[in-house]
Amino acid sequence: MGAVYIEDLGNHIGSQVTLRGWLYNRRSSGKVHFLLIRDGTGICQAVASLGDLGPEAFARADHLAQESSLEVTGIVREDKRAPGGRELTVTEIKLVAPAVDYPITPKEHGVAFLLDQRHLWVRSSRQHAILRVRSEVEAACRDFLHQRGFILFDSPILTPTSCEGTTNLFEIDYFGDRKAYLTQSGQLYAEAGALAFGKVYCFGPTFRAEKSKTRRHLTEFWMVEPEVAYFNLDDDMNLAEEFVSYILTRVLERRGAELKTLERDIERLARAAARPYPRITYDEAIARLQAKGFAVKWGDDLGGDEETALSSEFATPVLVHRYPAECKAFYMKHDPERPEVALCVDMLAPEGYGEIIGGGQREDDYATLRQRMLDHQLPLEPFEWYLDLRRYGSVPHAGFGMGIERMVAWCCGIHHIREAIPFPRMMERLTP
Ligand code: 4AD
Ligand code: MG
Repeated sequence: MGAVYIEDLGNHIGSQVTLRGWLYNRRSSGKVHFLLIRDGTGICQAVASLGDLGPEAFARADHLAQESSLEVTGIVREDKRAPGGRELTVTEIKLVAPAVDYPITPKEHGVAFLLDQRHLWVRSSRQHAILRVRSEVEAACRDFLHQRGFILFDSPILTPTSCEGTTNLFEIDYFGDRKAYLTQSGQLYAEAGALAFGKVYCFGPTFRAEKSKTRRHLTEFWMVEPEVAYFNLDDDMNLAEEFVSYILTRVLERRGAELKTLERDIERLARAAARPYPRITYDEAIARLQAKGFAVKWGDDLGGDEETALSSEFATPVLVHRYPAECKAFYMKHDPERPEVALCVDMLAPEGYGEIIGGGQREDDYATLRQRMLDHQLPLEPFEWYLDLRRYGSVPHAGFGMGIERMVAWCCGIHHIREAIPFPRMMERLTP
């Protein structure tokens, strides 16, 4: 039998197989070495005995260092006590390459040290579980949207304009004669896509020069942004709710083992998947916060603490809609019945994870949008293409953006979103 993956060992009980992986950990008891082998798909205990290996190979196995790469051949046995329920009775061990003084040992390390070792830290079981959940979340986003007929419409990363305000833009010198900016959101381009294809989404890295060092902010994060022609705010909220519920259900179904590794409260996550999600206006949010003793008044944006307090009242995410237009971006459509509020929505996750989605209906009237841009002191020239979308067959349309790392952090129940991406970028961190 050739090489197999640990996750497939159940199909090979009683057979001889070869595992190709790395030594995760090991302990010895005189005549037996217990080698924990990881191969990316799981961890398997390989039992190497003096009797099976002979004295020379047995002695060599005693000196294998953590994270050495190995090919281990043996017979697969079912064993309820072993991690994963199976173990390997080893007949042969081949060292592929040694690992000298692997820096991450089973002892406790500080998070700054671990972040410096991020390229190796991703091998450890907790990080591994988080990043497998991330992969599932991203696959779920794509599957949900494709099942509903959305077209993937990739947006550019180098852009001539801002999208979400000008205070946190990363500026780039573009061939010495122009400035370019790293995109804050693909939305404006997704709008062009929606008017061409009806239903589109973009999904990629986005950038914000966030000077705030909070547990919810990265300077580079991934966002999935659906955008739909002829959608109004209610349609948009329905889509956002179905989307998040689908992702949670999918992670619960397929990533149970990882959630267990992370000691995630699964019941709580399952409750959060149950629709419908409550919808409250910003006005009601302010009243609820004031009742809790917060010194917020109408017109203030909601900060992290307010979001946490508000969402703690619900077991599911809550949709807060119609914020004061003043707090929101230039492209938001104002409510025709109440022009001081925008037709926008934020989805706040429970358990203190805060805003996971921001979106809403877009201003579709040419003259209003143009004036709004002037009011926001935005240069019109680089936005002419965007105004064209209102010149040529404008329609009502809406969409939203979901931050992948915030969604993943919530699914995993981890404190800081920096662990929800393979290589986090923050104000104070650009390496590895
Ligand atoms: O609310 P935001 O700024 O909305 C937009 O960018 C819209 N243009 C999206 C759209 O309508 N297509 O960001 C959307 C989401 C937030 O709800 C949050 O989950 C995440 O992106 N996010 C961040 N995640 C990590 N670090 C940051 N600095 C983030 N800023 C926003
Ligand atoms: Mg927002």
